[in-house]
Amino acid sequence: MIIIANWKAKVQSITDAKRLLTSAKTLAEKGIHQIILAPSAPYLGLLSLSNTSKKLRFAAQDITLTPGGAQTGEVTGKMLASVKATHVIIGHSERRALGESDADILTKTKHALSSGLIPIVCIGEKKRDEDAEYLSHLRAQIDAVYGGLNAKEQAAIVLAYEPVWAIGKSASDGITPDDLIEMIRYIRKVLATYMPAKKAEQVAILYGGAVEPSNAKALAYNTGIDGLLVGHASTDAKSFTALVKDLP
Ligand code: 13P
Repeated sequence: MIIIANWKAKVQSITDAKRLLTSAKTLAEKGIHQIILAPSAPYLGLLSLSNTSKKLRFAAQDITLTPGGAQTGEVTGKMLASVKATHVIIGHSERRALGESDADILTKTKHALSSGLIPIVCIGEKKRDEDAEYLSHLRAQIDAVYGGLNAKEQAAIVLAYEPVWAIGKSASDGITPDDLIEMIRYIRKVLATYMPAKKAEQVAILYGGAVEPSNAKALAYNTGIDGLLVGHASTDAKSFTALVKDLP
């Protein structure tokens, strides 16, 4: 499986970041799962360039809209690739909440692809409703990205399904494996409107939101996902190690 540790802005010192790197390296070296660290921008290059594990990968938590120039504070795809990031998280709900639009997410996805980075595009409903309107919401988020890309670009994306209502919660308030199965089926059905059904089955889809050591295995086992996008449990070395070791 692909396990991404999204540290968000929770790891507040390089000392803590280096400690997490050490345990992530041990997990990656086992070679059972693909471990990808997504540290905050100041740590990214520092960690990735000093990393000695060939198996551990690095993701940025965001990418700028434009390829660079006179844009104070922006971090471009070329910069990220030059410090050995291989992936970038795009459209996380915490960035959407700050005003990032579907159009921005498409632009960022194209920017990532043209910089040689693999975009991890986040989608997810804010809440559940009895009329299942959340399904159309999810579909609109998928359409906004896939509708603007050619077949080659579509095939290069990793999707992350992260229901906003589950993010930051504890495992007991998260999604159930049964609900996750249904959602992943739905997402692949939508993807099959853009590509042959066989290809839609092969798109890497990650799940994120309240993934902890106690529920990771149940969420990962036979639910149709290809990996996990872990938030708070990835910023504690013990939790993250327990979570990864328990996976099928
Ligand atoms: P939590 O694991 O803290 O719920 O966060 C999930 C997430 O947003 C990962 O990108």
